[in-house]
Amino acid sequence: MSILVAMPGYDPSRWVDALRRGAPERPVATQAARGDPSIRYAVAWKQPEGLLASFPNLSAVFSLGAGVDHILRDPTLPDVPVVRVVADDLTERMSEYVAWRVLDHFRRGMTYRRQQARAIWNERPQPVARDVTVGIMGLGVLGQDAARKLSALGFRIAGWSRTAKEVAGIATFAGDDGLGPFLAETDVLVVLLPATAETRGILSSALFARCKRRTPLGEAPVLVNAGRGSLQREADILRALDEGRLSEASLDVFEEEPLPASSALWRHPRVFVTPHAAAVSEPEALVPPMLRQMDAFERGEPLRHLVDREAGY
Ligand SMILES: NC(=O)c1ccc[n+]([C@@H]2O[C@H](COP(=O)([O-])OP(=O)(O)OC[C@H]3O[C@@H](n4cnc5c(N)ncnc54)[C@H](OP(=O)(O)O)[C@@H]3O)[C@@H](O)[C@H]2O)c1
Repeated sequence: MSILVAMPGYDPSRWVDALRRGAPERPVATQAARGDPSIRYAVAWKQPEGLLASFPNLSAVFSLGAGVDHILRDPTLPDVPVVRVVADDLTERMSEYVAWRVLDHFRRGMTYRRQQARAIWNERPQPVARDVTVGIMGLGVLGQDAARKLSALGFRIAGWSRTAKEVAGIATFAGDDGLGPFLAETDVLVVLLPATAETRGILSSALFARCKRRTPLGEAPVLVNAGRGSLQREADILRALDEGRLSEASLDVFEEEPLPASSALWRHPRVFVTPHAAAVSEPEALVPPMLRQMDAFERGEPLRHLVDREAGY
């Protein structure tokens, strides 16, 4: 029974090496003929449509990342469990990114870099973290870890999720009714939502119009999106920046990736672009728990970190 690594357009060699090192007894393939009965598990990132449906003995699909939109978009996806990545390595990387971007905006890094380029010595007013609320959209594994770490830095934290939850030290809000009150608190908006039918285009002019007009930094809120590009309307973000609805933005994900060279986001002086690099999936860290899950599954134990196909994440 084989494992298929299906990640067309990406180099699978580090994943294959890690799987072979971790489980030498399990055959690993990167190419499989459609219908191959030996394929038991797929380790997938943007698999070709229809491929997974062709394997009659497929038992489970493992996503290479925390997000699973790239797997669920296949309308022929067979009715087998889909497992997403939940791993300290990935979570810690994301919290590093979030803390870095929040602190950089908060301590006026973008302004001071512009000033340095022109040798301008001009101290800007600086609030303290306890007077600033970071609002996190998406209070899942990544959102809650980022919340804890930002809280340790002194920020006030608000969180928004689909279903109501209680998290110590965080003001929580849920659903459509909670969105307005959540935005009314938020000075720095951090987005760690999954890409689903419900979240598509949520970062739009309509949402920015509901944000605060002034924050303790003296300007409109800052946006940090490391969720997915489909959450954002890039034309609306640019308009919000230019109309003073947003003061600055850090974007790690984009409607089209790689971000086309023609995008105005590359050149906007108050936008910080990273190439979907907030939290990379490292095979050395993520393959051992995947293999442990396969072993447990074969002993009859339930798989963990399963995707809710109905909810889309
Ligand atoms: N840029 C990168 O490098 C990178 C790396 C890894 C992951 N990501 C992105 O980060 C996302 C989050 O990962 P995670 O592990 O934290 O996921 P998770 O544990 O599944 O958490 C998702 C959170 O989003 C909330 N949510 C989902 N749909 C919503 C809606 N319609 N309205 C309000 N809240 C909603 C969920 O609410 P409930 O709590 O009520 O379920 C949950 O709190 C991934 O899906 C992926 O897209 C990006």
